Amino acid sequence: MSITILGIESSCDDTSAAVIRDGILLSNVIASQSVHEEYGGVVPELASRAHQQNIVPVVDTALKRAGISKSDLSAIAFTRGPGLLGSLLVGTSFAKGLSVGLRIPIVDVNHLHGHVLSHFVREKEDDEVPEYPFLCLLISGGNSQLVLVKNYNDMQIIGQTIDDAAGEAFDKCAKVMGLPYPGGPFIDRLAAEGDPKRFKFAKPHIANLDYSFSGLKTSFLYTLRDAVKENPNFIEENKADLAASLQATIIAILLDKLDKAVKQTGVKTVAIGGGVSANSGVRAAVADYCERHHLKAFIPKRAFTTDNAAMVAIAGYYKYLDKDFCPYDAAPFARVTM
Ligand code: KG4
Repeated sequence: MSITILGIESSCDDTSAAVIRDGILLSNVIASQSVHEEYGGVVPELASRAHQQNIVPVVDTALKRAGISKSDLSAIAFTRGPGLLGSLLVGTSFAKGLSVGLRIPIVDVNHLHGHVLSHFVREKEDDEVPEYPFLCLLISGGNSQLVLVKNYNDMQIIGQTIDDAAGEAFDKCAKVMGLPYPGGPFIDRLAAEGDPKRFKFAKPHIANLDYSFSGLKTSFLYTLRDAVKENPNFIEENKADLAASLQATIIAILLDKLDKAVKQTGVKTVAIGGGVSANSGVRAAVADYCERHHLKAFIPKRAFTTDNAAMVAIAGYYKYLDKDFCPYDAAPFARVTM
């Protein structure tokens, strides 16, 4: 008999629902929330209210696009954390309510596991998936981690940021340049037209596999502050070169630790995930690094880089196969590690 999982993701500002049958994706619907744009960041209370408005139509659309009805579902997988508590509560409560109504189990999913396992979402039978063990560079607005993935339920963080995340470095520097939030995609676009060697920014010197991005942020800020004193139009006149140099520095920092981690672990496969893995420069640099070192690279489709329920559904599918269900008194977590 087929196993059909409904995945629900509501950890931050995207409401998403997806259906996976026997490991194959049937639908993945995402409603992004534009309500935060004018505030320059996600407003938690507005996010949870928008989730409440979106969740029924999003789940309904995901079921329709998958061509199934509620009674075909085997289980419901939901993101339990980490994320914004109010937002997580909407997805968690909805999953519980629907599961009681349908008399099917619920499966809780760690959002970070979801990002790592997004590489196992197949759209057709012969889509390739990574072989264990592999290394995943997980880079988003809230995390920058090097994860050694031994199995779907056995992951070890071997390096992580001690201050800002890679996405924060993009967003905070973009803000200094007067770009809209989130600034990562704007830097990406500007960088394509700029000279990545024009400006030099600080890189961290940390002996182990941990990341740090706050020094880069400070050196970016000081460079701009001093230059604007001399020429008030400095940012506008140099925005492409600034973006390209900033992006190149972030990539160099990411790749430096990735290289160390590959050598330490001896893995043959490298994957990237999280919002920043949508960055054109990061994607090209990781693909190029893997080619030069004869490693297999898994670069996600852009639709699976940001928060999506397909990754929640696939993580839930594996837990369902293990009968690893979640009790009804399970509360969401704002912070969880691997
Ligand atoms: O994984 P994600 O959707 O969620 C959070 O962790 O909140 O990641 C969002 C982050 C933001 O910092 C955004 O600027 C960054 O991913 N991002 C990018 C690009 N697309 C999204 N950063 C650089 N280049 C991009 N193309």
